[in-house]
Amino acid sequence: QSDAFTYDPGFTSTASCESKITFIDGDQGVLLHRGYPIDQLASQSSFLETCYLLLHGELPTASEYETFETTITRHTMLHAQFDRFFEGFRRDAHPMAIMTGAVGALSAFYHDSLDIQDATQREISAHRLIAKMPTIAARAFKYSVGQPFVHPKNNLSYAENFLRMCFAVPAEDYVVDPALVRAMDRIFILHADHEQNASTSTVRLAGSSGANPFACIAAGIACLWGPSHGGANEEALNMLKEIGTPERIPEFIAGVKDRKYKLMGFGHRVYKNYDPRAKVMQTSAYEVLAATGRENDPLFLVAKELEAVALKDEFFMERKLFPNVDFYSGITLSAMGFPTTMFTVLFALARTVGWIAQWKEMIEDPGQKIGRPRQLYTGSAARDFVPVSQRG
Ligand code: SDX
Repeated sequence: QSDAFTYDPGFTSTASCESKITFIDGDQGVLLHRGYPIDQLASQSSFLETCYLLLHGELPTASEYETFETTITRHTMLHAQFDRFFEGFRRDAHPMAIMTGAVGALSAFYHDSLDIQDATQREISAHRLIAKMPTIAARAFKYSVGQPFVHPKNNLSYAENFLRMCFAVPAEDYVVDPALVRAMDRIFILHADHEQNASTSTVRLAGSSGANPFACIAAGIACLWGPSHGGANEEALNMLKEIGTPERIPEFIAGVKDRKYKLMGFGHRVYKNYDPRAKVMQTSAYEVLAATGRENDPLFLVAKELEAVALKDEFFMERKLFPNVDFYSGITLSAMGFPTTMFTVLFALARTVGWIAQWKEMIEDPGQKIGRPRQLYTGSAARDFVPVSQRG
């Protein structure tokens, strides 16, 4: 049992909430989930076991895990009518637009989840979301590429089930390299939760009004889509493609220093040191590129050289700009066969457990009140109305 401790990062006056789920020390580059370091979870745990930890506060026993895994597995199917939602989108719709609409629409299918005061219903909603996000995400992908939907199979692990729903086609048997399944599972762990980031704060604020969990998660997905947040993995790969070769890095760096654009995948609101997830993601990138015969992927070479140059450059170091979780994820996901438009969808799939764990923690706090941030008013002082005839 860890000794509970209150860590005051020196800005408790602006702290938005108390939480027991995730701890970040931005100066030291530390990330703990319920006290366990992210690199240990990424190397020794599984995504579903990490989901249990985030939701319940302790690692599960073998029988607790078996029950949890069975529950999640048996909730992966979608209502047959639900598939019609996808047909309403344009073929070229961005998968994140589909995710935002489809997840919010779950509210229209599970009316029992609207009663957020019922603890059993809250648990069921959490399980439904963790279980159905891969199926919805895979359908968003299949719809965008014009291929038939693939149903989940209960005899597959969470990550393999998702990869199969994305990449299997009726015309041939689906076989996947276990190295890719492991990498997918690890990438989900790395993105599971991250304290009070913009999208988690969105989920908490939406949930504080009593809105149902599906609507709150849809709000989180919408926020995550932004290029400064979850959309950065897509932008980071587009940036590497734009640079193209190591020889063009100096010219690119000059443009960053001239404020023409940012180095996507670098910098963080909290980490002023290396994002611990980025180190694990770089290892995953190596493994996936090796497993897919892309050891000499030119974009990976550009990324490594760009990182090396930036980490030696005063502009980045004096601003404490280091790689974050998004810097290497795009290369990895691209090598796995995902288009850039799916990168943030995968981020949202994994972050759903963090969002819903934080939502539950807030709802179950007896002192919880509706969120109501205040402002510093900088507008006009009080003044009298002027009729249009007198407005010059
Ligand atoms: C995620 O909050 C979370 O936890 C988010 C996340 C999660 O798991 O939920 O970790 C996921 O969103 C990671 C971040 C992904 N975004 C990107 O990689 C986009 C590129 N990064 C930047 O947009 C930026 O670093 C932010 C938005 C992430 C942080 O921006 P801030 O708060 O403005 O950073 P800062 O205050 O530390 O900036 C200090 C200086 C500024 O320059 P000056 O005005 O002082 O001269 O550094 C500059 C910034 O303009 N700067 C960058 C830069 N990031 C900050 N310059 C070039 N390239 C960058 N990437």
